[in-house]
Amino acid sequence: MKCRVCRHPAVIDVRRHNANFCEEHFVKLCRDQVVKAIKAFDMLSPGDRVLVAVSGGKDSLALWDILLGLGLGYEVDGLYLGLGIGEYSEASGRHARKFASDRGLRLLEVDLRSEHGFDIPNGSRAAKRPPCSSCGLSKRHLFDQAARDGDYDALATGHNLDDEAAVLFGNVLRWEGEYLARQMPVLPAGNGFPRKVKPLVRLGERETAAYCVLRGIDYQVEECPMAEGNRHLGYKAALNAVEAQSPGTRHAFYFGFLDRAADLFRGQMVEVGPGLGTCASCGSPANGEVCAFCRLVERASGEREHTHDVAVRRVPVRLGSRRDDGVPE
Ligand code: AMP
Ligand code: FES
Ligand code: ZN
Ligand code: ZN
Repeated sequence: MKCRVCRHPAVIDVRRHNANFCEEHFVKLCRDQVVKAIKAFDMLSPGDRVLVAVSGGKDSLALWDILLGLGLGYEVDGLYLGLGIGEYSEASGRHARKFASDRGLRLLEVDLRSEHGFDIPNGSRAAKRPPCSSCGLSKRHLFDQAARDGDYDALATGHNLDDEAAVLFGNVLRWEGEYLARQMPVLPAGNGFPRKVKPLVRLGERETAAYCVLRGIDYQVEECPMAEGNRHLGYKAALNAVEAQSPGTRHAFYFGFLDRAADLFRGQMVEVGPGLGTCASCGSPANGEVCAFCRLVERASGEREHTHDVAVRRVPVRLGSRRDDGVPE
């Protein structure tokens, strides 16, 4: 097995590209794919201040490392959110902190339990929501807030091609027009929300894992125990089976959608109108008196009666990209 570029011994095969690569050229391939995604979707400009949401897993740590290594002058800080999911969260936090401290990088931290009075396991139980739904809502809200507070140009997440294709697959199976309309690797800033970017959309998770191993990045290998058996993992497994039989299908499915079908759904985007107000509790953009996250905090911590609920319009403030984590109520 020889490297396609230099003919030296290869360390990895990438079936989608029908090629093998040595360490040096595989790392270059990963960086080139990120640059290609950033340029194609106009995600970032040289010198941008970027906040990377880091879970301690392979994707977000690879993303942080790649953005710093591109030499495009990005100023990149990390943000770790403590979700309070037992030993899984403890270990995730340790990986994120170690990556940052080994490299002298700035890692912001927000801890759900100490700062908002609940964690994902007991909060979702009290609020009678599936864990991934409370988790998705909390992540979106706290990522937005941290990016706004720190005046960052963009908030970057480590969603990769496998993630995005699985979300697309789920949304297509049920023809979820509103979600399909939002399924883009970049969402522009507006109405008090920061620009959101997903620079790893051209890399699969096998590649981000290999990148971390080759770069000596120690990451959290465990998957979230609360996600076990959810629909999203089922869609991923189904696409893995298709990809194993015919390499390149996942890429064709996702990028074919962006090139040829995404525009058809634009009209179904739930527009957050210019009349958007401010949450009376946290100051975030909200289309009711209180934002969806603060309503979750109230219900999850059970501290107060839901006095605000009657005043709140049920239009979601900011949808996620999929049904199982995107519905605020
Ligand atoms: P997931 O929702 O677990 O598939 O993660 C998708 C992306 O969200 C990751 O690549 C990270 O960028 C970000 N993320 C997930 N969990 C956390 C966390 N606890 N703290 C900060 N960012 C996170
Ligand atoms: Fe959010 Fe698992 S990481 S429920
Ligand atoms: Zn090579
Ligand atoms: Zn609020």
